[in-house]
Amino acid sequence: MSTSPFVLALSLLLSLPLLLFFFFFPTIYPHKNLPLSLRDELDDRALFRRASAARATPSGHAATSSSSRSFPAKFARLGARNSRPKIAFLFLTNSDLSFSPLWEKFFSGHSRFYNIYIHADPSSKFAPPDGVFRKRLIPSKKTERASPTLIAAARRLLADAILDDPANFYFALVSQHCVPLHSFRYMYDALFGNSISAFNAYINPGEYKSYIEILSDEPNLYERYAARGEHVMLPEVPFEQFRVGSQFFMLTKRHASLVIEDEKLWSKFRLPCLDKECCYPEEHYFPTLLSMSDPKGCSHYTLTRVNWTGSFDGHPHLYQPEEISPALVRELRQSESNYSYFFARKFTPECLEPLMKIADNVIFKD
Ligand SMILES: *[C@@H]1O[C@H](CO)[C@@H](O)[C@H](O)[C@H]1NC(C)=O
Ligand SMILES: *[C@@H]1O[C@H](CO)[C@@H](O)[C@H](O)[C@H]1NC(C)=O
Repeated sequence: MSTSPFVLALSLLLSLPLLLFFFFFPTIYPHKNLPLSLRDELDDRALFRRASAARATPSGHAATSSSSRSFPAKFARLGARNSRPKIAFLFLTNSDLSFSPLWEKFFSGHSRFYNIYIHADPSSKFAPPDGVFRKRLIPSKKTERASPTLIAAARRLLADAILDDPANFYFALVSQHCVPLHSFRYMYDALFGNSISAFNAYINPGEYKSYIEILSDEPNLYERYAARGEHVMLPEVPFEQFRVGSQFFMLTKRHASLVIEDEKLWSKFRLPCLDKECCYPEEHYFPTLLSMSDPKGCSHYTLTRVNWTGSFDGHPHLYQPEEISPALVRELRQSESNYSYFFARKFTPECLEPLMKIADNVIFKD
């Protein structure tokens, strides 16, 4: 059989589309029906890689536990800084920030100790407030309940905050329905001792815990675990290691980095739920990941108070203006841990007025 070079070339050429198809099919196909588009996924990966690389450079980015050992390095880091560790406030929202005047009061006079970042669903009508919230909107993507888009949004906020300011040490996720229960100063001192001893956070970052709820005794835990299909989470996440907790947390930089560097658990949690009734990925991803990676470095409780009494359709009690009183604020602060709650949710936008009335004399007086 004589095959001319021409025929050979022709047959190769003809099989090229087929080859290309098989080459790209596996990469394209798995993303096809995912809640997060391939494009968003790739954008996120690039962002997370940049944040991860920025953190690893010696140019003053806070320490990981491995690089915190040498004494001169500690001093070099300390000397390179002229700022105290900051708290990055990550506002995750799909509507206006109704409580911005209250937060404005909360932040007032502490500009060297915090940063603000906002992720607002671009399909929502969000009017960025002025003042401390001005120009704090990060590149945001669509978010939806019962989908991993809320996890992706929180990770985006963490990555942007890591990239933006190496002094960001704690990362507090809050929503538009959250309000402060204490003054900024009270919160800062509770976390760092005081503004002088706060420098210790750069020297011994490992001494600081993340405040995130991690529970294993939710009644519907198995249904939530199997929401994507019975064995889908295996082998990365065995049921015994699956956890639940509030979506609202305060993570240390160590843990924030761990979250944006994770690919293993995300590969499972980003899959769509078959059972939408049991689909709350954001309440499982963070507690499961941190409980699997560093359970001792976490408080296992949240600092954001929520009232689940009489909850409906997965929503907690929504406070109305007539419920607001000094007594309510004092009650909401009380916790079973040795920390008082710093924040509470959820409040209707109309609660702003009664809250502002008691802001100076109750909420920020502590
Ligand atoms: C929690 O919500 C219930 C109504 O669902 C209300 O009766 C109760 O007072 C609330 N508890 C607190 C501490 O606000
Ligand atoms: C809180 O209590 C735990 C144990 O009960 C203790 O180990 C921890 O140091 C306490 N934290 C603070 C800030 O007092």
